[in-house]
Amino acid sequence: MKLLVVGGGGREHAIIRKLKENPQVETIYALPGNGGIAADAVCVPEIGAKDLDRIVDFAKSHAVDFAVVAPDDPLALGCVDRLHEAGIPCFGPDAKAARIEASKVFSKNLMKKYGIPTARYEVFDDPAKALEYLRGEDVGFPIVVKADGLALGKGVLIPQSLEEAEAAVKTIMEDKAFGDSGNEIVIEEFLTGPEVSVLAFTDGTAIAPMASSMDHKRAGDGDTGLNTGGMGTVAPNPFYTKDVAATCMEKIFLPTLAAMRAEGCPFKGCLYFGLMITPDGPKVIEYNCRFGDPETQVVLPLLKTDLLTVMEAVENETLGDLNVDWHDGAAACVILASGGYPASYPKGKAITIPADLPENVTVYHAGDKLEGDRLVTSGGRVLGVTAVGGTLQDALADAYAAAERIEFEGKYMRHDIGKRALSAMEG
Ligand code: AMP
Ligand code: GLY
Repeated sequence: MKLLVVGGGGREHAIIRKLKENPQVETIYALPGNGGIAADAVCVPEIGAKDLDRIVDFAKSHAVDFAVVAPDDPLALGCVDRLHEAGIPCFGPDAKAARIEASKVFSKNLMKKYGIPTARYEVFDDPAKALEYLRGEDVGFPIVVKADGLALGKGVLIPQSLEEAEAAVKTIMEDKAFGDSGNEIVIEEFLTGPEVSVLAFTDGTAIAPMASSMDHKRAGDGDTGLNTGGMGTVAPNPFYTKDVAATCMEKIFLPTLAAMRAEGCPFKGCLYFGLMITPDGPKVIEYNCRFGDPETQVVLPLLKTDLLTVMEAVENETLGDLNVDWHDGAAACVILASGGYPASYPKGKAITIPADLPENVTVYHAGDKLEGDRLVTSGGRVLGVTAVGGTLQDALADAYAAAERIEFEGKYMRHDIGKRALSAMEG
C-alpha cells in the first residue's frame, strides 16, 4: 500500500513510525515531512500542509491508497473533504466536524446545548460589550479569555485582574494579535485541577480512547515561563483513574459524539479531549480535532493493535467491531528545543544523535531539515526523545539519559517532565 501523511512535525513522525510496522505498507509520502522523517518516508518539502490543491493532485498522481491528515489547519480547511471527493480514503474529520477545534464558540455552544460539563462562559463579538461584562459585579479573577479560532495554541489568556482582562480583550479583538481568529471571543470561568489529555479514535459512533497522557505546556521547570506547544509528555496520566475514565465516557465522550451526529457533522478521526479534573468532576477545557503534539509521541508507542487497521476501521465506520489493545507500562517524551523558543531562536544548528541509543528509545523529529546529508535545526521544538518502560520512572530515566547525549548548539529541555505524575502516584 502507498500511504500519504500530511504534516511535518514530531506527531507526524510518530504516526509514520507506527504505520510502518504494518508489512503491507510499501511507501509512505510525507507532505512536507522534515529532515528526520526523511529516514522513514519519502518527504516532499515543496508541498506544505495547507496546500490542498497540490496535496490532492499528489495523492491522485501517486495512486495513494490511504491518507492521514494530521495538523489542525488542513483539517479546518477541508483537506479530508477534498481527498474524499477525489476518491481517496483517509483518516481525519471533514471541515464541518473540525469546527469542534477550529471554533471555540461552536464547541462551547455545543457543550452547553448537550449538557457536556465545561467552564461557564459568555461569547462576545463586540469589544465594548466584553469590557462591560468584565466590569460587572459577579465577575471574578483570574478569568479566561479565548480567541474563537485557531491561534497556534496561543489564543488563551488568563488575566489575573480587571486591568489585565481589559488588555487581553484589546490584544485579541482590537490589536488582532491572532488575526481573524479574534473576531469573536469566549470569556469563561477559571477552573482548577490537574489536566489530562485523552485522544480517542472514533468513527462517529464507536469510540476507542487511547492511553491517557499529560502535557507540560510551559517553557520552564515548575510550570514557569511562556506557553509552548508542549515541552514533554507522559502516559498514562495517573490522575485519569478508572473512575474518572468511566465518568468521562458517560458524561463527556459518548455525549460529544452524539451531539456531533445530531448537529449533522459526525466526527471521524482522532478526537482530543483536553480535560480538567475539577473538584466537581471532569470538565472539558478544549477539544482538538486531531492527534496532540507531543501527546502522540507517548501514546502511539503504547498502541498494540496495528495503527493502519484502526484508521481503516474509522474510515469504514467499523471501529465497533475492532478491539484496540494497549501495552502495559508507560512512556515519556522529553522535547529538545532551540534556545529562545517559544520566542525567537536561531536555526541551522548541526544535530548529533548517538547511533547506539537503547532499543526502547525513539527520537521523533519535529523541527529539522537536511542540508546535504547533515541534519540541522529548523524549528523551535527540534526533537522529541521518547522512551517506553515498565514503569514511568524507568521511561523517564531512559528518555532523559538519551536526551542528555543528543547535541545541538543552544539545546534546552525541561528537567521536570513527569515529576507531577510521579508525585501523584506516590501520594
Ligand atoms: P487551550 O489552548 O484551550 O488548551 O488552553 C491552554 C491552557 O489554558 C490549558 O491547557 C489550560 O491550562 C488553560 N485553560 C484553558 N481554559 C481554562 C479554564 N477555563 N480554566 C483554567 N485554565 C484554563
Ligand atoms: N500538546 C497540545 C496540543 O497538541 O494541542
